[in-house]
Amino acid sequence: MAKAKTTFTCSNCGATHKKWAGQCDNCKQWNTVQEEAALSAGPEGKTLGVAKGRKVILSDLSTIDAPLPRMKSGAEELDRVLGGGMVPASAILVGGDPGIGKSTLMLQLAAAFANNGQKVIYISGEESAAQVRMRAARLGKSDAPVQLANETNIRDIITTLDAERPALAIIDSIQTMWADHVGSAPGSVSQVRACAHELTSFAKKRGVSIVLVGHVTKDGQIAGPRVVEHMVDTVLYFEGERGHQFRILRAVKNRFGPADEIGVFEMTGGGLVEVKNPSALFLSERDKPAPGAVVFAGIEGTRTVLVEIQALVAKSSLGSPRRAVVGWDSGRLAMILAVLESRCGISFANLDVYLNIAGGMRISEPAADLAVAAALISARQDNPLPSDSVCFGEISLSGALRPISQPENRLKEAEKLGFSQAFAPSLMKTVSESGISVQKFDNIADFIETSFGVIDD
Ligand code: TYD
Ligand code: MG
Repeated sequence: MAKAKTTFTCSNCGATHKKWAGQCDNCKQWNTVQEEAALSAGPEGKTLGVAKGRKVILSDLSTIDAPLPRMKSGAEELDRVLGGGMVPASAILVGGDPGIGKSTLMLQLAAAFANNGQKVIYISGEESAAQVRMRAARLGKSDAPVQLANETNIRDIITTLDAERPALAIIDSIQTMWADHVGSAPGSVSQVRACAHELTSFAKKRGVSIVLVGHVTKDGQIAGPRVVEHMVDTVLYFEGERGHQFRILRAVKNRFGPADEIGVFEMTGGGLVEVKNPSALFLSERDKPAPGAVVFAGIEGTRTVLVEIQALVAKSSLGSPRRAVVGWDSGRLAMILAVLESRCGISFANLDVYLNIAGGMRISEPAADLAVAAALISARQDNPLPSDSVCFGEISLSGALRPISQPENRLKEAEKLGFSQAFAPSLMKTVSESGISVQKFDNIADFIETSFGVIDD
C-alpha cells in the first residue's frame, strides 16, 4: 500500500514545504511550519481522458450585463472601502490584530445593513449571543434587526444560512470554525482553508454575501488570514496602533472596486465613529514650525490625506546606530539615508534615526520619499521647513526627483487645509494654477541647498 502522504504547510503564508523546517523559506517566519495530512488525490500518473467530463457552457466576452447592483450600508466610510457598497454574493475577508476592533466594526456593519432593510445574520464563534447583545447595547444598536447565533460547526452554519438565505452573513472568526470532514484542529491551515472554501462557494452558489473575520496571528499555532486571501473577492485589513484611537480599514484586494482605498474610524466609548476629514486628524498642532516635522500630501485610494512625518536624529553611543521606524518601510528609510550620504554628502553614520508617521498612519507610497528626506535633514540640522509647506516626490537612487501621480489633487487638498507652499519634483505634469506656490526641483541635492543652505560636516 502506498504510504499516506503528509505535507508541511506554513500557517502564516500558506506555503507548502517538502519537509519540516524551523523557518518558512517564503515568509521568513519562525515556528510556523506544521505537518498536515495531504488531501487524497486521484490515481497518480493517469490522465483524466476526454470522455468523462461535461461540456461547459461558454459565453461571449462582448455580451453586456447589467451593472452589478450594490448593497449600501449607509455608512459612508465602509461603503467607500467596498468600492461603493457591497456586491451581492461576494466573499469578504476582514483581517486585523486581536483586539483592534474587528468584532465592533462587524456588529456596526451588521446593524447598518439590517437598519437599511437587508436580512443579516451574525455568527460568532468567540462570544455568546448575550455577549454580542451587551456589545450592541454599548454601541446603541440594540434595536437593529440582526439575527445572532453562537456556533462553530460549518456544516450546521451552512444548513442554517441555506434555510434562512440572508443578504449578508458575518462569520466571526474564521479561525474558530471547524469542518467535521477535515481531521485537524480548529485554527489549523487545513481547517481554516476548508471552512473558508465551504463558505465562499456557498456565497457564490446561493447569492449570500459572506464576511469572514480573521485574526492576524503571531505565534504560528493558528493559521492567519493570509492563507485564505486568494479565495475571497475582497480583502480588508483593519489597522491601527494600540495607543491611538484611530483605525484604518484598508482594501488590499478588491475584485469589485479599487484596492488601496481606506476608511478612517475613531474608536470611542460608543464604538467606531467615521472620520470624514482624516487630514485634519493626522496633522498635529502646526502653529510653530518644528524641526523634523514635515507634511506629506499623500494619496490613499481615491482620497488625498495629509500626514505629518516626524524625524528625530540624535548622537549615537552604539556601534551600529539605531534606525527605528513606525508607519513606514525600514528598507526605504535605509535607501533614503544612503542616497543622502552618497549623492548629497550628508552622513548619518554615527547618528540614531527615529522616524514616525503621526496619528498611527501607515504610508507605503514612494511619493513620501521627499518628505521623509526633508524631515531627516530638518531634524539633523535643527532647522524647520516653513510650517505652511507640504512635500511630495519620489527619490531615485541617483538622487533625482521623480514625478508622482495626481499632483493636482495633492495640491488642492493642501490648499484646502491652509497650506501655501509645496516642494515637488520638476518633471511633474503641468499643474493648473492654484493658490499654492509650487517650488520644483530636479534632484534632492538642489532641494536641500535651497531649503536648508549648504550643509558641511
Ligand atoms: P473587538 O471588536 O472585540 O476586537 P477584535 O474583534 O478585533 O478582537 O474590540 C475590542 C477593543 O475595542 C477593546 O479593547 C475595547 C474597545 N472598544 C471600545 O473602545 N469602545 C467600544 O464601544 C467597544 C465595543 C470596544
Ligand atoms: Mg472579536
